Amino acid sequence: METPLSVHTTTDRAALHAALLPQVRALIDGEADAIAAMANVAAAVHTTFQWHWVGFYRVVGNELVLGPFQGPVACTRIALGKGVCGTAWKEDRVLVVPDVDLFPGHIACSALSRSEIVVPIHDRQGRVCAVLDIDSSALDDFSAVDVEGLTVLCQLMEPLS
Ligand code: SME
Repeated sequence: METPLSVHTTTDRAALHAALLPQVRALIDGEADAIAAMANVAAAVHTTFQWHWVGFYRVVGNELVLGPFQGPVACTRIALGKGVCGTAWKEDRVLVVPDVDLFPGHIACSALSRSEIVVPIHDRQGRVCAVLDIDSSALDDFSAVDVEGLTVLCQLMEPLS
């Protein structure tokens, strides 16, 4: 299957999300392997927005384990309730961090990360089984438009296991 990723000239975030969602639908349609789906979605999101780091952490036992990503190397394991990712997992909610330096317990994987968004993804039982984590090198880079677009994107991937 070939899904072309267009080169966007607009900087309008809502338009980028609108263009991304059908691509994601096509990329994961019929793909039962969660790792394969996450790999292509990470690439599609990174290509679309050029964010510093885009990737997934999977719930494995009692911790998050690094999954497919695009960007610099990252920490491999995060405990429940730790950092932005572990907190989003524990509280099962989207977390937007406008300034990572002001988030108590933020886990710094890259000195270039300035703001962050984490979106939980659920399995068939409704439990968090992974998170989508995105770091931006710009302060306060994530708005309600991104929360909405990325929440829909993660819902498209559900149930994921
Ligand atoms: N900053 C994250 C850790 C993962 S990296 O950003 C890729 C956190 O605090 O959970």
